[in-house]
Amino acid sequence: MKNYLPWKEEYRTGIKSVDSQHQQLFQIINDLIGAIHDSNSSKEVLNKAIQKMMEYTEFHFKHEEEIFRAYQYPSADDHHQKHELFKKTVQDLFEKNQTQEMMKTAVLAILKDWWLKHILVEDMTYAPFIKSKGEKIGLTEFDQ
Ligand SMILES: [Fe+2]
Ligand SMILES: [Fe+2]
Repeated sequence: MKNYLPWKEEYRTGIKSVDSQHQQLFQIINDLIGAIHDSNSSKEVLNKAIQKMMEYTEFHFKHEEEIFRAYQYPSADDHHQKHELFKKTVQDLFEKNQTQEMMKTAVLAILKDWWLKHILVEDMTYAPFIKSKGEKIGLTEFDQ
């Protein structure tokens, strides 16, 4: 399958669980982009691929927010709001009942722009705080 959104080393936060989940997420997003580009994809196939992406997203957001609680990250609320906004944006897409084509265009834009920005900007903001706090108490779930 084509790699539409390739994983890059610069996306690595250094928190092992987060990085492996981000990589898994990229895999799921690539499958979804593949389904969007495949003109043979039925509405059901497309909706299933979006559903799968959202289920994994939900799992991943929860994991990050558990880390925030465990490490008492001061900007947890702010980050939580960004996660909620993403979920709402995707939810709204379904509720608007748009045409298949409009849906495809909107999903593509959200996938590329939102996820890359979120990982490179927002997730990268909490990573150094979590890592320095974790390293201080001798945890080993971090790279280097
Ligand atoms: Fe996040
Ligand atoms: Fe993340």
